[in-house]
Amino acid sequence: MHLHRLERVWLTFGAAILVLFLATITTAAVVEGFVPPSHVQSIDPAKVRVTPPFDKPGLHRLASGSYEAYYVAAIFSFSPHELVVPLGSHVTFYVTSTDVVHGFSVPETGINTMVTPGWVTTVSYTFRKRGRFLLVCNEYCGIGHQTMADAIDVR
Ligand code: CUA
Repeated sequence: MHLHRLERVWLTFGAAILVLFLATITTAAVVEGFVPPSHVQSIDPAKVRVTPPFDKPGLHRLASGSYEAYYVAAIFSFSPHELVVPLGSHVTFYVTSTDVVHGFSVPETGINTMVTPGWVTTVSYTFRKRGRFLLVCNEYCGIGHQTMADAIDVR
């Protein structure tokens, strides 16, 4: 098969980029130990409500200005129903599901992640703006999906 010189150059360039990207990802994962920002901790979905700390969903204070928030997503609501966060706080959210795949999205903040049963999803954010933030499920999870919303109150 005859390939034009420029075609050969272009194919070589494409293949080289592919190899470079694969090498970068492999190095980051194997050498640097990079993992996705969630799905590193597993949990039995049937026992979420009796597994600490998910048995007491809500905001837990770590230090001044630093909090952890534990959320349980289940058709068709989040627990806790409303979170009150002090202004300026850095909050790490731990979210899991007892049933199907849900979303965990706070549109004004950039928090947007998938919640998968059997896994704990983790996402962090510093609340620097006062107000009431909408928290929504953005993965279609069933007939009541559109009602699955809550609020985060930053005071
Ligand atoms: Cu939960 Cu959509």
